[in-house]
Amino acid sequence: MTQHSSSTLTVPELRAIPRHVAIIMDGNGRWAGNRFMPRVAGHAEGLGAVRKIVQECRRLGVEYLTVFAFSSENWRRPPEEVGFLMKLFLKSLKSEVSRLAENDISLRLIGDLSRFDSAIQEMVQFSEEKTADCKSLTLTVAANYGGRWDILQAMRQCLVANPGLKPEQVSEELLQPHLSMAYAPEPDLFIRTGGEQRVSNFLLWQMAYTELYFTDVLWPDFDEAQLNKAFDWFGQRERRFGRTSAQLASESMSDAV
Ligand code: IPE
Ligand code: IPE
Ligand code: MG
Repeated sequence: MTQHSSSTLTVPELRAIPRHVAIIMDGNGRWAGNRFMPRVAGHAEGLGAVRKIVQECRRLGVEYLTVFAFSSENWRRPPEEVGFLMKLFLKSLKSEVSRLAENDISLRLIGDLSRFDSAIQEMVQFSEEKTADCKSLTLTVAANYGGRWDILQAMRQCLVANPGLKPEQVSEELLQPHLSMAYAPEPDLFIRTGGEQRVSNFLLWQMAYTELYFTDVLWPDFDEAQLNKAFDWFGQRERRFGRTSAQLASESMSDAV
C-alpha cells in the first residue's frame, strides 16, 4: 500500500473537487421528532440520504467518502435505540452490498468491530471482500469509531511492528500506516449536518487541515443539492496549510508560466 502524504509534512496538491469527503450524519432523531415519530424512524430515513450522497459523490468524482454511523460514545444511548441501530446496520449491509458492487463502489469499515455481534462481523467481512476490487469510489463507514481510539490503536500497532522503538524515533511516518484510514488521503472536506458545530471524536488525527462545513439541515433532508452547496463553499476556500496568501498567489503565477 502506498503511504499517503501528510498535510503537516508536505503541502497537498489542491483540487476543485474534494478527493476525500468525511460526513457526520447528524439530526436523525430531531427529524423524526419534528414529525411526531420515534427517533429510530429518523435513522431508517437517514439510510435513503446515504444512498443519494454516495451516488452523487461518485458522479462528481470524489474518490473517498467516509460517513460516521455510530460513535464509540453512542453506546451511551438507550438500549432500545442501540439495538435498533445494530439491526439497521446488519439489514443495510445485507441490502446494499450488491448495489455497491454493481456501482463499482468498495466498502470499508473502520472502528472497533469486536464489540459487534458475530452476524455483523461476518457480514462486514463478506461485504468488504465482495467489493474489494471496486474502483469508482471507496465508501468507508465508521462504526464504533472514535478518533482517540484510532490514535491509541495505531500507537499500539506501531510499537508491536517496531520492537525496541525509542521515544525519539516515533514519527508521523511510522504511525500513519497503522491508523485505520491509512489507505486514504486525509479528508479535504468535512460536513456535519444537524446544526452542531463540533467534531464529536471523529477523525481527529486525519482532520488536521480539513475544511469544516456545518449546516442546519437534518441528515434525512440532506440531498444532492445540499452536497453541491457544500462543494461550492469548499471551492471558495483558500487552503494555505500554514503559508500566506501572497505565497499562494506567487506560486499560482509561476505555475501559469
Ligand atoms: C445521528 O443522528 C445518527 C447517530 C448518531 C446514529 P442522531 O440520532 O444523533 O440525531 P439527533 O442529533 O438526536 O437529532
Ligand atoms: C455523532 O453524532 C456521531 C454520529 C453521527 C454517528 P452524535 O449525535 O452522537 O454527537 P453529539 O453527541 O451530539 O456530539
Ligand atoms: Mg446527534
